[in-house]
Amino acid sequence: MSNNVLIPRYPGAKSNRDKYPVWDGQTYDVAIVPFAGSGRWCIPALQQCHVRSLVVADADPAVRAVWGMFSGKMMDSEFLSGCIDDWVKEFTNLIDVDFGSELHEDRAVKLFERLCFIHDNPEKEWDCEGHLYDGCDYAAAKILLHKLCFGGNVRSNAQGKLNISLRSDWATAIKSWHYELLWCPPDRPVTIHADWSECFQQRITGKTIAFIDPPYYAPGNGPRVKGGMSKAYAVHGGNPNDNSVLEMFKGAVRAAVDAGCDRIVATNYHGHWLQTVQYSAWADLVGACVADVIDSQWVEYGETAEFMREMGFEWFHDLGPLQTMNNINFSSNPAKAGTTEQRTVRHEGWWERGGVRQHGRVRQLSLLGEVAA
Ligand SMILES: C[S@@+](CC[C@H](N)C(=O)[O-])C[C@H]1O[C@@H](n2cnc3c(N)ncnc32)[C@H](O)[C@@H]1O
Repeated sequence: MSNNVLIPRYPGAKSNRDKYPVWDGQTYDVAIVPFAGSGRWCIPALQQCHVRSLVVADADPAVRAVWGMFSGKMMDSEFLSGCIDDWVKEFTNLIDVDFGSELHEDRAVKLFERLCFIHDNPEKEWDCEGHLYDGCDYAAAKILLHKLCFGGNVRSNAQGKLNISLRSDWATAIKSWHYELLWCPPDRPVTIHADWSECFQQRITGKTIAFIDPPYYAPGNGPRVKGGMSKAYAVHGGNPNDNSVLEMFKGAVRAAVDAGCDRIVATNYHGHWLQTVQYSAWADLVGACVADVIDSQWVEYGETAEFMREMGFEWFHDLGPLQTMNNINFSSNPAKAGTTEQRTVRHEGWWERGGVRQHGRVRQLSLLGEVAA
């Protein structure tokens, strides 16, 4: 997908198809994606005819608005792109009048704050300046904030509220911005639901693949010492400390198994393999840039692994440590490396049931074999 394609970005979107090989080389009649997000796997799969139809769900109305656009519901697409264009016009109008003045910068910041308010309050109808807004504005806010915030990364604080500022070169950024709409092949049905469970309430016929990629469950105080994740993630669809997030994952896995899906791929950090790592003092002494790992052990979070085994998931792939918005790759953090302190690093896990396993593409650990033993 080109960088200009209009998608609501999601931290953790599965855009790297080598790292996340959902597709196993077969053709499927239906792909069920109960936590659709930006559809980084399933949209190309539909476009490339690996799957013939999609049944997706997402709780976020902004995400659904873009999916509505993708699936060719003209009303949705016209509303959303019209809404985005209106916001862009509000900013570009500022460029034409009094550009560079203090008043002008102030107005740009105020517009940006209105977008932040809408992002943080999707359910309210009136923004901080008394303007009426709706779900399209919410979707537009999610998209535009990525374009306009400093550093291009929409971050939240521990309370789940946005923690971003307007980039200084916003005028150049907005003037040069051109977006493409996602393209959906004709005669490829796309059904969009609001909750994951609805995907499994409709009758599914034909060969089916399910990709389950929910918000991550990662209980614990901090991202680094205990392997937990910040509550900042809650703004992206679920508090990682909340047990209901784990239940949602299990519910979706169970529903996919009950629906008789031919292949199920489920991904999460609560594959519950934590790695405890012990570093040598060497890196600190010589000021080396790469920490020297002297011992590391895998710790299994038993309940989830047990559940997955019961559900018939024999295979777990380790995709490496979480390195997104809350964890830092310790090996490139020499300041922290020269201690004998033990740390736990949450690893991303990849579970497969049915279909063709990805032999040779990612390192595989058999739950029934060497790891479980
Ligand atoms: C990890 S993201 C999915 C990312 C996606 N695989 C991608 O490549 O972009 C999880 C998604 O689950 C959605 N979500 C949270 N709760 C949900 C629910 N109850 N039903 C459906 N979707 C939900 C969030 O809005 C978010 O878009």
